[in-house]
Amino acid sequence: MSALLKSFSSFLGSSIGKKLLVALTGAVLVLFVLGHMIGNLLIFVGPDAINEYGHFLQTMIHGAGVWIARVGLLVCAVLHVVLTIQLTRENRAARSQRYGYTATIQASKSSRIMILSGLTILAFIIYHLLHFTVHAGNNYGTYQVMLHGEKVHDVYKMVVAGFSWLPASIFYIIAMLLLCSHLSHGVSSMFQTLGLATERTRPIFEKIGSAYAAIILIGNCSIPIAVLLHFVK
Ligand code: HEM
Repeated sequence: MSALLKSFSSFLGSSIGKKLLVALTGAVLVLFVLGHMIGNLLIFVGPDAINEYGHFLQTMIHGAGVWIARVGLLVCAVLHVVLTIQLTRENRAARSQRYGYTATIQASKSSRIMILSGLTILAFIIYHLLHFTVHAGNNYGTYQVMLHGEKVHDVYKMVVAGFSWLPASIFYIIAMLLLCSHLSHGVSSMFQTLGLATERTRPIFEKIGSAYAAIILIGNCSIPIAVLLHFVK
């Protein structure tokens, strides 16, 4: 292995390297969440708009596009979770050695909230994939509609059916509240890790984190709420 490659891999294995990877994979996931929300909001434009968008995602680059995105997202999500767990363990070990206290007492409140909200988001993603992608326990995969003379998946009808069941909508809204808490803290600490936050700019990045999280919360929750209120039907 060349010296450059060796020092690069030892950098990625270091605490700073891991933190940087958590921030970079977090940035990809943050952008995905925004893009996904904007796409979902097409439901307010009408059935054709969201069905056309769904059809585009499924067929781009002859169907390979969606798989490239899936693999990329999966790699980012796994790295983000595994490295966060490693960093938390390393921090706890270092702290309990230094102070002789139990790890739980030493774990900061915000890092515990981040782990809890992160694990809830993971549970939400598994439920969400079973609900709308794998169509486990439902027949949403059979919903079809004609669009510009072509038979396509009726994403509009699926989302309306999915959120018409109150417990599912409540679960989504609770998950979005936890996602909001995770994003609010995560986005501002991402700027910190990337070395962009100074004493003066830190409050600005904290505001950006809160504003971003609020936009995602309002945008995503508006969909189940609109379905429950029969505004979208
Ligand atoms: C109310 C909010 C949301 C709605 C209405 C929604 C809607 C959908 C729909 C309809 C699909 C299936 C697309 C298709 O089959 O064409 C989907 C897939 C997916 N969603 Fe969401 N989503 C929401 C929130 C989220 C959030 C917050 C995340 C991540 C944290 C997320 C992650 C995903 C992923 C990873 C997929 C799978 C994409 C694929 O592999 O096909 N979604 N979503």
